[in-house]
Amino acid sequence: MSNPFHKKTNRRQFVKTSSLATAGTLLIPSMLAAKAHIDGDDAIKIALIGCGGRGTGAAMQALLTKENVKLVAMADAFRDQLDNCYNTITADDISDWSGSEENLKDRIDVPEEHKFAGFDAYKKAIPLADVVILTTPPGFRPIHFEEAVRQGKHIFMEKPVATDAAGIRRVLASAEDAKKKKLNVVVGLQRHYQTKYRKWVEMIQAGAIGDVVTSHVYWNNDGVWVRSREEYSKRAGRPLTEMEYQMRNWYYFTWLCGDHICEQHIHNLDVSNWVKNTHPVRAHGMGGRQVRIGKDFGEIFDHHFIEYEYADGSRMYSQCRHQPGTMSRVTESFQGTNGEAPKPGVLLTRSGHQIFKHDGRKDANPYQVEHDELFEAIAKGEFKFTDAENGAIATMTAILGRMATYSGKMVKWDEAINSNVSLIPDGFTWDTTPPIVPGLDGMYPCAIPGKTKVI
Ligand SMILES: NC(=O)c1ccc[n+]([C@@H]2O[C@H](COP(=O)([O-])OP(=O)(O)OC[C@H]3O[C@@H](n4cnc5c(N)ncnc54)[C@H](O)[C@@H]3O)[C@@H](O)[C@H]2O)c1
Repeated sequence: MSNPFHKKTNRRQFVKTSSLATAGTLLIPSMLAAKAHIDGDDAIKIALIGCGGRGTGAAMQALLTKENVKLVAMADAFRDQLDNCYNTITADDISDWSGSEENLKDRIDVPEEHKFAGFDAYKKAIPLADVVILTTPPGFRPIHFEEAVRQGKHIFMEKPVATDAAGIRRVLASAEDAKKKKLNVVVGLQRHYQTKYRKWVEMIQAGAIGDVVTSHVYWNNDGVWVRSREEYSKRAGRPLTEMEYQMRNWYYFTWLCGDHICEQHIHNLDVSNWVKNTHPVRAHGMGGRQVRIGKDFGEIFDHHFIEYEYADGSRMYSQCRHQPGTMSRVTESFQGTNGEAPKPGVLLTRSGHQIFKHDGRKDANPYQVEHDELFEAIAKGEFKFTDAENGAIATMTAILGRMATYSGKMVKWDEAINSNVSLIPDGFTWDTTPPIVPGLDGMYPCAIPGKTKVI
């Protein structure tokens, strides 16, 4: 059993060292004001930015760690989203969501004045916390991450961490600042927190199948939700502005979502990079939309196939498809000079003899583990997690693939990451015209390989 006083002293010292002492002279007055509030009791205080499905789950997972944690602030672009989330996490029974018999009421203290709605909501919630959970659509991640680091907070942020190269560069710059300030940053690429993957990747990296020459990575399934303009207009009792609509149905707009290659397939691309311990140097591929057509589907593709090349000449073959009724496959495999890793948790020699098997069904839930490990480190005053850079590289790998399929050209990593094409507007109001608008027929233009410019 740890000494509670020792823990308390450690945490306070750590928060102080990691944010105040390293925040830079410009920040110190505002940080002092914020810390006076935050240090009011011993709980590690959390602000949730983005109160949708994942935000609700991540907040619960943070509150279910064994550390002394409290949710103190919530922010969402839309007040109804925030209210739904608040009602879910404060319910008597949260077992459907969390699998836990506990309820979380005594770990939630979010008074009305700490509930913030609108595009600037994040700026008001972040100062109230020690740890910030960033779970909005990824188009906003660079802005929110930058601000959370600027304010000296520990961070859990979901993948992807951006939707364009300009956003990636912002995240990489803030990741460096976070390291200097000793801020723990965990990114929701949860395979890194899953025993099956940890053991499997470690053995491949140690040479169990020789040099890896090919990776095959897949996210092929039916796809995700669609939020219709009519439905949300009915709820609002008036037509939505174009910005309101795109923010509701964000998955289908590249500036907000990055396309489904970023949103989902990033997990598999990241595993290949993890095994190779680097990122690809170039990519070419093909993609389009065949079934994802109609006004509700914005501009993104429904399939991409990409051949990525690493600097050592090895290849990653990547498929992602969102087409209902087609074959589902979400996994990764690797072929090496001495053997094969046919699926996560399994290694074979070249002759097919099994040299490793970890079935993973009894592994702890990685969504919980990422929070358990993050909050334990914070409670102990340890600086342990620097996931932002890897999150940025994984996201950039997906963006590189998207650039290849949208353009139909060979795209090099160095050109892609230095691209000045920015998808994100300079400012946001509900009347701001988004970067893409529908034509007179209500349909959105989408990328045309051979014509669309991506760099
Ligand atoms: N790691 C995983 O397995 C996993 C699983 C699901 C989702 N995610 C990630 O979590 C993120 C959110 O996904 P979701 O499924 O929760 O979506 P969602 O639509 O359910 O929730 C997003 C929330 O963010 C809010 N929001 C949008 N813009 C905002 C802004 N500027 N400021 C504050 N709030 C804003 C929305 O109103 C909404 O409530 C995505 O990046 C997604 O990829 C990760």
